[in-house]
Amino acid sequence: MNAPVQEQFPTLTEIVAAARSNLPPGPWSYLVGGAETETTVKRNRQALDALAFRPRVLRDVSQVDCRATFLGRPVRLPLLLAPIGGLESIAEGGAAAAARAAAQFGVPHMLSSVCQPGLEQTAAAANNLRSFQLYVRGDDAWVDDFVRRARDNGFTSFCLTVDVAAYSRRERDLIGRFVKPWRAKAVEGAPFQAGLSWTQVKRFKDKYPDLPLILKGIATVEDAELAVRHGVEVVYVSNHGGRQLDHGLGSAAVLPEVVKALAGRAEVWVDGGFMRGTDVVKAIALGAKCVGIGRLQGLALAAGGVPGLVRALEILEDEVRICLGLLGCNSFADLTPAHLAPAPVVSEPGIFSAFPHLA
Ligand SMILES: Cc1cc2nc3c(=O)[nH]c(=O)nc-3n(C[C@H](O)[C@H](O)[C@H](O)COP(=O)(O)O)c2cc1C
Repeated sequence: MNAPVQEQFPTLTEIVAAARSNLPPGPWSYLVGGAETETTVKRNRQALDALAFRPRVLRDVSQVDCRATFLGRPVRLPLLLAPIGGLESIAEGGAAAAARAAAQFGVPHMLSSVCQPGLEQTAAAANNLRSFQLYVRGDDAWVDDFVRRARDNGFTSFCLTVDVAAYSRRERDLIGRFVKPWRAKAVEGAPFQAGLSWTQVKRFKDKYPDLPLILKGIATVEDAELAVRHGVEVVYVSNHGGRQLDHGLGSAAVLPEVVKALAGRAEVWVDGGFMRGTDVVKAIALGAKCVGIGRLQGLALAAGGVPGLVRALEILEDEVRICLGLLGCNSFADLTPAHLAPAPVVSEPGIFSAFPHLA
């Protein structure tokens, strides 16, 4: 059934090209753009490109295994389909399509609270491993209601995105006059998001001690430490794909110090600019347990719907397998920071610099 899509998309580059030709200018700019000067977007790529591999040879890599675990459950790759709000304006089916692809391929999907067709319908769309991400736009009772609905619908972990105290100025959207349908509601709830503090994190963990909590949007060691002290299970290093604070550091540059400081007291996940199998391998070598895929997920869905996203994941898996084998690793367990070295960046970092053959 997948044969046509495999022929259509032998490479990720062709998936990105197809997304670009399928999407109208508004949704395209919304998907690929970042905040203001898009410096953080570029630094995400720069931080990854500034890492080179130190391969080991002659290690019998005839059986490379790319599998991993996600909060204790087996998954096909150490990946997460990151939460994307408004996916319905990018691909038919919105979050339900992402959930179906997650189920078909065998990786988890994190549903954004601002994505259609919403919590219940997305959960009903596929039997996938799922996590729920909330933008806090109401009081404690409002949050509790989402927790109840998420649990009732099989979401096994809960995520608060914490890098959205203010909504950024996305210049591509402003210039293109692209108005997202959910923005009006977001403006209404904005004071709750801005008013969020560690008090609410403590309340959450006190009330739901057995529901794994992920804080998404941690960008410093200091906040990672606070998260652990508040009992958070997962520190998700992210700058929202450079869509929130401009002039931040690249995620891959922040990751090592967070991993070192936490020393296994919480899982560390990461996203921001991860487009290739080699990028994923770099993150795991630096100590991340899971890598979030944001734009690439949207691009693949826009290129070819559910089969397009499954195909992108297959290509990532292929790239990961090749990379691990060439590093002399039989699995992610064999990877260490010694497989990496700092190196000069060879091409101008940008949203699409991972795809130099894009016409
Ligand atoms: C179109 C789009 C919408 C997003 N919506 C959300 C969201 O609703 N909630 C959230 O926590 N992060 C959201 N993000 C951020 C992603 O979850 C992720 O952190 C980011 O895309 C990772 O960077 P990458 O796109 O370079 O992979 C969004 C990202 C994109 C591209």
